[in-house]
Amino acid sequence: MSQHDIEDLGLSNPSENPHFEQIIDTRFARRSFLKGGLGAMSTGLFGATALSACGGGGGSKSGADGFVPPAAKSSFKPIGASFEDKVRVPEGYSAKVFVRWGDPIGAKAGAPVFKKDATNSAVEQELQFGMHHDCMEMFPIQGADANGHFLVCVNHEYVDSGLLHGAAFDKNNPEHVAKQIAAHGVSVYEAKRVDGNWTVVTGSNYARRITGATEMSIGGPAKGHRLVQSKNDGGGLKAYGTLNNCAGGKTPWGTYLTCEENFNGFFKKAVPGAMEKRYGITNAVYGADWTQIDDRFNLDMHPNEAQKFGWVVEIDPYDAASKPVKRTALGRFKHEGATVTLAPGGQVVVYMGDDERNEYAYKFVSKGSYNAANRAANMNLLDEGTLYVAKFKSDGSGEWLPLVFGQGALVAPAFNDQAEVLVNARAAADAVGATKMDRPEWVAVHPETKDVYLTLTNNSKRGASGAPAVDAANPRASNSHGHIIHWREAGSDAAATSFTWNLFVLAGDPKSSKANLQGNIQGDIFSAPDGLAFDTAGRLWIQTDMSTSAMYHPEHAASRTDYKNFGNNQMLVADPRTGEIKRFLTGPVGCELTGWMMTPDRKTLFVNIQHPGEPLAGAEDNDPANPMKFSSWPDGPSGGRPRSATVVITRDDGGEVGA
Ligand code: FEO
Ligand code: CA
Ligand code: CA
Ligand code: CA
Repeated sequence: MSQHDIEDLGLSNPSENPHFEQIIDTRFARRSFLKGGLGAMSTGLFGATALSACGGGGGSKSGADGFVPPAAKSSFKPIGASFEDKVRVPEGYSAKVFVRWGDPIGAKAGAPVFKKDATNSAVEQELQFGMHHDCMEMFPIQGADANGHFLVCVNHEYVDSGLLHGAAFDKNNPEHVAKQIAAHGVSVYEAKRVDGNWTVVTGSNYARRITGATEMSIGGPAKGHRLVQSKNDGGGLKAYGTLNNCAGGKTPWGTYLTCEENFNGFFKKAVPGAMEKRYGITNAVYGADWTQIDDRFNLDMHPNEAQKFGWVVEIDPYDAASKPVKRTALGRFKHEGATVTLAPGGQVVVYMGDDERNEYAYKFVSKGSYNAANRAANMNLLDEGTLYVAKFKSDGSGEWLPLVFGQGALVAPAFNDQAEVLVNARAAADAVGATKMDRPEWVAVHPETKDVYLTLTNNSKRGASGAPAVDAANPRASNSHGHIIHWREAGSDAAATSFTWNLFVLAGDPKSSKANLQGNIQGDIFSAPDGLAFDTAGRLWIQTDMSTSAMYHPEHAASRTDYKNFGNNQMLVADPRTGEIKRFLTGPVGCELTGWMMTPDRKTLFVNIQHPGEPLAGAEDNDPANPMKFSSWPDGPSGGRPRSATVVITRDDGGEVGA
């Protein structure tokens, strides 16, 4: 089963959380005010002041009395949807391919170049960019031009076994398994613009690959706990590798946070227990089977090994010798984003989604405060604090429910200490009655108002028999196209334990024959919002990840005509004040858009094209005998196979991207 299918499974949460009592009343009350239009929708819960300000589209600044972000206008001419096998951007913009899967990482001169027949060895892959780029962040280098020379950390989420190897993947071939492990993880590299072209600095002291086998530390309450004790790990003090690195974030002290998402697919157990089932572990691996070669993935032999995955991992990009640390205080689930903001009191707050159907939105609030004058003092801030899970109430208020051992339902015999609460964070969130969401993906925090936006990519089973009913925060049955929700913390304090919330937009196609799939987008249409980021001017960038099992293409997947109007996956720009959404970029066939970073001058934007050429119509991984059946991006027909890559976008007149 391929990765997009794993992401869409959503079968692990059977808990019977209470749903909203008056769900039907709420739902219709809500839907009727949604019909009032986007202005009403964005502001309806925040008072008439906000409503009039937003409806009028005036230029007033946001205030504590209303949910009205400053305007963030764009003047580019939006582009149409596309089925083309290329990256398209608006008139007056250029997009250039930068680092691709298999390019040398730059740690040393003479690092192996990519072989287009995919015969690079596992050892060579360890010196090259991994496969399937996802989140990335940039880190300034002291004394260097912050707009032209910096460090980058980029995730490599998973592999397509049909593209990775020179021949069909063989689980009994140790070289194949080693290459798969080496293609996962994170790349750290030094990026520099030279004569207008972006380059990977060769011989950089910073460059490194972190893979599915790299030794790391375990930090926080679960460090050394019996539940994370496994093979060769000094009694639960160490872990080997990071896997399925999807979204992430960065801290104010200049470290990278990488999130372990669909790790469960690599583990199997003959008779999985309740907690293992809760995390999607079964008696079979989903994709490539590594258990024949590395027995730590066999939970019958090493029952706690899977509990060493599903964490947020902190990486110091400035020290290539530093060990990444799994920060267990942030909880174990299928982590998507880890978006960091500072509370007015100095606490570090990390917003996180658990991307599976009917899972939850979380935040972590550190006990200590950020120290801007002493970097070393911040390095373990993420080891101590409180993990919360969100409850969205039908009246537009919300509560952050603490996941603290000894409080409420989080007591013996279900939980015996805080480490158990964190290792089994999903079960703890079930027990406190959190709101089951339509697949929480990325979180973005408005640079000025600190309002929080969360993508809920889709949940086609919402409201189905045996699945959660619709609720105010997830208001559509069979929610195939997803939505974006936003909230304001009480007092705009990220450490607050209550908030007010509303829906920002329901994605969809107004031409859909099904009323609940029409959405209420004001502008260009999209489905399946996933990546989400604010630039420093307050524009909201939305990246889409329609599953290749759903998306339409005229040459390949004619059965899904209900997705026809969306074209390929894309990136759009929203003005959070007016709700206007404009299409900025369309990607090649089969890809998703993910990963986003912009230089401080806002003149250079980097985004990732992940899995171009992923088989459409729900097929398995690519056929190694025909790797370019769906796409030959970015290198064209002579390139051998499609490759995930970072793309650099600039404006031809040298202006701000997106302005
Ligand atoms: Fe890996 Fe939830 O996207
Ligand atoms: Ca995906
Ligand atoms: Ca994602
Ligand atoms: Ca996704």
